[in-house]
Amino acid sequence: MKSPSASAAPPLSPSQQAAPLLAVSHIAKRVQGPEGELTLLEDIDFTLSAAESLAITGPSGSGKTTLLGLLAGLDTPSQGEIRLNGQSFSTLNEDQRASSRGAICAFVFQEFHLVADMTALENVMLPLELAGRDKPAAIAKDWLERVGLSHRTRHFPATLSGGEQQRVALARAFAVQPRLLFADEPTGSLDHANGKRVIELLFELNQHSGAALVLVTHDPQLASRCQHHIELVEGQIFSNSMAALSSTTSLTPPEQSSIEKFVHDDLLNEDKAP
Ligand SMILES: Nc1ncnc2c1ncn2[C@@H]1O[C@H](COP(=O)(O)OP(=O)(O)OP(=O)(O)O)[C@@H](O)[C@H]1O
Ligand SMILES: [Mg+2]
Repeated sequence: MKSPSASAAPPLSPSQQAAPLLAVSHIAKRVQGPEGELTLLEDIDFTLSAAESLAITGPSGSGKTTLLGLLAGLDTPSQGEIRLNGQSFSTLNEDQRASSRGAICAFVFQEFHLVADMTALENVMLPLELAGRDKPAAIAKDWLERVGLSHRTRHFPATLSGGEQQRVALARAFAVQPRLLFADEPTGSLDHANGKRVIELLFELNQHSGAALVLVTHDPQLASRCQHHIELVEGQIFSNSMAALSSTTSLTPPEQSSIEKFVHDDLLNEDKAP
């Protein structure tokens, strides 16, 4: 593996690493549906520190993408508070939220959100240029190579497969060396080999750059690599391996979390496979 790019953000100091990067306090999300008010999320509460990794799992429609959108400041909760790096989102307007998260976070959306009339290379260069980084083309090429796409740099998104588009979106997120990476199903469109490659890159970013990860996933292999798991069912936390807000983070025994048990059983089955 190559070392992180020379233009990466400087490493975090020990005090920065100790502070909660993301603090989520009793948030709820309600919307007006065709049949009246709908509760999409209820009483979500946890903190995440620098360099920690969190898997958010749960059935389709349980609120994972909705939660990620709130954590990333793309939408506002109906109730409760989210603090990013100590700053409450509720005190910021939309532009301020965008610049606050732009300095810290990167996103990989479930639908990738690549810019259609930009090549793969230009898509990866875009946030580097916006951040005023040196040598954006060289950094972008390096990350496209790392995700296995050095032969597709001049392709437009429409001429890339779903898995290739996903890897461009990941390269775009990795390239800015964020302190916090949000990714919605980052291995959802990938085959086994590319999924494994992306998981390695995610945890390389986590371990070498101290980036915190918040990953929505159905992939038990990916969930098992994260330090923490939150399982959502019908918009509520069904199981949570994290400490509640304001107490010390600790892991619960695996048997207390159904997702961890699922992952554990899955790995056991994998071990038994010929
Ligand atoms: N703006 C909205 N108005 C009404 N209902 C919504 C809105 N956005 C999401 N929903 C509903 O909220 C629920 C949660 O959606 P969400 O996209 O968060 O699910 P998810 O857990 O990410 O599912 P998947 O695994 O399929 O991606 C779904 O039932 C969805 O239909
Ligand atoms: Mg989703």
